[in-house]
Amino acid sequence: SDPGLVARAAAAKAALGDRVFVLGHHYQRDEVIQFADVTGDSFKLAREAAARPAAEFIVFCGVHFMAESADILTTAAQKVVLPDLAAGCSMADMAVLGQVETAWEQFTDLGIQGDIVPVTYMNSSADIKGFVGRNGGVVCTSSNAERALTWAFEQGQKVFFLPDQHLGRNTAVLEMGFSLDDCVLYDPHKPNGGLTAEQLRDAKMILWRGHCSVHGRFTLDSVREVRERVPGVNVLVHPECRHEVVRAADQVGSTEYIIKALEAAPAGSAWAVGTELNLVRRMALAHPDKQIMFLDRAVCYCSTMNRIDLPHLVWALEELVAGRVPNQITVDEDTAKYARIALDQMLALP
Ligand code: 13P
Ligand code: SF4
Repeated sequence: SDPGLVARAAAAKAALGDRVFVLGHHYQRDEVIQFADVTGDSFKLAREAAARPAAEFIVFCGVHFMAESADILTTAAQKVVLPDLAAGCSMADMAVLGQVETAWEQFTDLGIQGDIVPVTYMNSSADIKGFVGRNGGVVCTSSNAERALTWAFEQGQKVFFLPDQHLGRNTAVLEMGFSLDDCVLYDPHKPNGGLTAEQLRDAKMILWRGHCSVHGRFTLDSVREVRERVPGVNVLVHPECRHEVVRAADQVGSTEYIIKALEAAPAGSAWAVGTELNLVRRMALAHPDKQIMFLDRAVCYCSTMNRIDLPHLVWALEELVAGRVPNQITVDEDTAKYARIALDQMLALP
């Protein structure tokens, strides 16, 4: 990265000292990660933000929903900064509160709403987390989805899972013994979600039709092709991948799981990894004794994660030094109150 910008970022960070704490998600660029005080997946970063009450500013190098969660979990005096407001998440954008409320009304009209526990993936807006908190549900991440679903099925007969159909389906079917027939796909762009009353009454898992455009790019052909090309390769994928891809893989797990599996892998072993490219490249560089490759031949960055680059980070830090707070992310009090209930429920899972 540009040495002038590196020096400016270092100088601004030094000038701010303990007043600033920089969080970096695993999918961030190397040029940004080098300035992170801590790196992690969205769950770990939410907890790290909550554990830094002394820092006046939390600079969140990640995407919008993560910065919102950080604002919910930090004190009122702390300010959360997202270096580029265009760093959203296409998956989180697939569930809009009004659509979800329409679905909920439909479930009420059918008389099944009382049986349903809403569960939302961390990768959702604060509005959606607030809806879930208001209605007795829980937030989950890719590392605790099974525990969250187990808890939800202790509270009710059915789960309404938002917004990632793949995480919901993969967890229910591959880890909890449900069948594909137990799951239905609710399409917010179709009348009544594109489902009949009977389908909704019979379903155990009502999956919102959302997905991650990055992990959705891996296909069964990506898996077949790498197995042919690299005999003995271990295929390791994130649960946001399509069901058939996860089924064909050798191991599945969250970002933190993937990092630990690669660290523990024996020297000389070969790994094809189905997750975001910045992370896979960093792991390949960190473990030159192992053959770590990207699962697909096509490049697959998360374009919104990549919006946070060194120039944006430098700008944000220098603004803070100048006494201004750029791109502050705030969640309104009422939404935050209920979203926090759903987040706290997650943190309290056994
Ligand atoms: P985790 O950070 O929970 O591993 O989720 C992956 C992801 O897609 C983040 O946007
Ligand atoms: Fe959203 Fe997927 Fe990017 Fe994660 S990788 S921020 S889920 S688009």
